Amino acid sequence: MMKHFTPRGLSSDAPSGFPTVRMRRLRYNARLRELVREVRLSPASLVQPLFVRGGRGLRQEIGSMPGVFQWSVDLLGDEVARLAELGLGGVILFGIPDQKDATGSAACADDGIIQQALRAAKRAAPQMLLVSDVCFCEYTDHGHCGVLDGRQPPDVDNDATLELLAQQAVTHAQAGADLIAPSGMIDGMVGAIRRGLDAAGFTRLPIMSYAAKFASAFYGPFRDAAESTPQFGDRRTYQMDPASPVGQALREVELDLAEGADIIMVKPALAYLDVLAAVRQRFAGVPLAAYNVSGEYSMIKAAAARGWLDERRTVLESLTAIQRAGAGIILTYWAQDVAAWLKDSSA
Ligand code: PBG
Repeated sequence: MMKHFTPRGLSSDAPSGFPTVRMRRLRYNARLRELVREVRLSPASLVQPLFVRGGRGLRQEIGSMPGVFQWSVDLLGDEVARLAELGLGGVILFGIPDQKDATGSAACADDGIIQQALRAAKRAAPQMLLVSDVCFCEYTDHGHCGVLDGRQPPDVDNDATLELLAQQAVTHAQAGADLIAPSGMIDGMVGAIRRGLDAAGFTRLPIMSYAAKFASAFYGPFRDAAESTPQFGDRRTYQMDPASPVGQALREVELDLAEGADIIMVKPALAYLDVLAAVRQRFAGVPLAAYNVSGEYSMIKAAAARGWLDERRTVLESLTAIQRAGAGIILTYWAQDVAAWLKDSSA
């Protein structure tokens, strides 16, 4: 059997093309590295989350998310117009209402916070894609993602929530949403919203479903930002168990597609790259999004603030990994920073 040459002059029977094959040949030249790189981030595939609240002249930084703000509607238009200049794929809007109640009634009001925000954003930046998060956790006084049943302890009443989700989505559509994004992990939510939109004449409005959303500790800072922490219990009866098999995520995706979802999302992103890759492989023809969530943001921010990580390099590497795993669309709090970094050729 042929002996293979190894650098120390030792022989080995392991097949090796070295020295004919040298992996480093494509790494010496920066242009070549760029040429053979298959994963390229682009602002057009990034979606910037924005938090909107009542009041005037407000741009309030969120304590656990430095660089992320709650905006009042009067300042939102200019901000969305500025983001449109960066060429982002879209913005996703989350609302913090003035009043919360047991059924989250402010979520479906024509002059609700998101409905006002959508109108202001559309007016200021008609070219920007406006995504609206459809869920009740920001609107209910108990902080759960739907209305409660009468059980002890109470839980989200799945079927009673469906009709409300459809109503909320229709009011978003009427206010100018370009893409409806239900995030509550309520069984049947995509179908109920699809029927509601169709009945109201919005047959052309697509749905991006948070299809495989896990009950994650990484949402912690978001609940500060959206003021949506559950007042009792947690979301484990509707969001997926992080330890569940990947096949369960595939079933969630399959069901949402059957109900009419146009775009599928996996959330969070970094701890669930295996799920992303599996969904990408099984449903190759479906646009796939990943949500790089608040906790993923805050932990890099915190480390960068201490000088322990280089923020830009860490973020670009993370988002590249999310895209490489299969996401064509990434929702990330760094969307605007990435757009600026990518313009800078040394990124
Ligand atoms: C609402 C919703 C949540 C997030 C997006 N939509 C919070 C939750 O499920 O508790 C989290 C986003 C993030 O952490 O950045 N259902």
